[in-house]
Amino acid sequence: MTHPTDLFDPAHYARARLPTLQAETLPPWCYTSQAFYDREVERIFRRSWNFIGRADEVPKPGDYFTIDLVGESIVVLRDQGGQVRAFHNICRHRGTRLLDGAGNRAAISCPYHAWTYALDGKLFGSAGMEKTESFDRADFGLLPVRLESWAGFLFACFDPQAPDLATYLGDLPQRFQAYSFDDMVCVRRKTYDLACNWKVYLENAMEEYHTPTVHRKSIGSQKTTLIDDAVGAWDAIFMPAPRTIAVLAEDSAAAFPEIAGLYGRPAEGTYFTAIYPSTFFATTQDCMWWLQQLPRGPGRTEIVIGSCFPRTTAARPDFRANVEKYYKRWDKSLPEDNLISERQQAGLASAYGRPGRLSWQEPVVHRIANWVLDRVLNDHK
Ligand code: FES
Ligand SMILES: [Fe+2]
Repeated sequence: MTHPTDLFDPAHYARARLPTLQAETLPPWCYTSQAFYDREVERIFRRSWNFIGRADEVPKPGDYFTIDLVGESIVVLRDQGGQVRAFHNICRHRGTRLLDGAGNRAAISCPYHAWTYALDGKLFGSAGMEKTESFDRADFGLLPVRLESWAGFLFACFDPQAPDLATYLGDLPQRFQAYSFDDMVCVRRKTYDLACNWKVYLENAMEEYHTPTVHRKSIGSQKTTLIDDAVGAWDAIFMPAPRTIAVLAEDSAAAFPEIAGLYGRPAEGTYFTAIYPSTFFATTQDCMWWLQQLPRGPGRTEIVIGSCFPRTTAARPDFRANVEKYYKRWDKSLPEDNLISERQQAGLASAYGRPGRLSWQEPVVHRIANWVLDRVLNDHK
């Protein structure tokens, strides 16, 4: 479906704005157009708090990883004092990218002319700059990126004016307190490069309607209810279940004990949660896993799945053997979602597509659409 020239005129989206059961889905161009994507980058990803990883992924001073957030490479590291920091991954001399991947460094040395930065970002080595007039190393430290954390989840924000993370997350931290995320460690991270829009993937993760078909040979049908009173940049659905859903029923003997001290509703099932703009995480009785959607363009998304367990669970003698059953479950169900997402994207790219309608089983698909429209249309700033 080709898009109109006045792409951000609210009139094109009036039907997507109606209540879920009267609404249409977003027009297909919202998933395929470069202009729509560029507006999302500008109005959403450059202004929001974006999940970038877990603090336990950089446990020791000098540990770092790099991440690409809508085209901006960021270095996340733990400094000598134990503080986690984020910097733009660019040298202040002539702009070279500094680091790749992940690892441990005592200092950051540029691969071009060897300017060297301390882990707190200060430039301390710049041999050859002695004759440069009024050059003060103090003016050429690494450029920091705003970084804040909640219970071990790290978030970055490019907008200096944006309210703090606690305001952004609203009542999420309080409502998910029982999981003791602070005591969890990420034991595995896996990445997939997919040919789909980031919203396609998030929508899929947040609706149960597809589960009996897409997951009929793995996790099967899931029955959820909408959490309709979320305050903050998140939405969730809850699936009552007496035990963890992170292992397949056939492997239930391998299930780990519940998270210590789990109480209330978290003890009675699984939450599937979207933290806007593009992070999903699932929390069940014994563990948590996240799905990060890192947009790479209108039709391309890098998906990162991280698997987290309480430290006490990860220290169990049977952890190594039994966690394989968890990996088996994720490695079976995730490719099913990946395939259907790419297949949906292929269809959305057709010039003949039209907006569709929504089932009562897709309330969050509608919420995602409206969260995005609230930010990108011309009647909003
Ligand atoms: S560009 Fe980094 S030292 Fe020259
Ligand atoms: Fe799914």
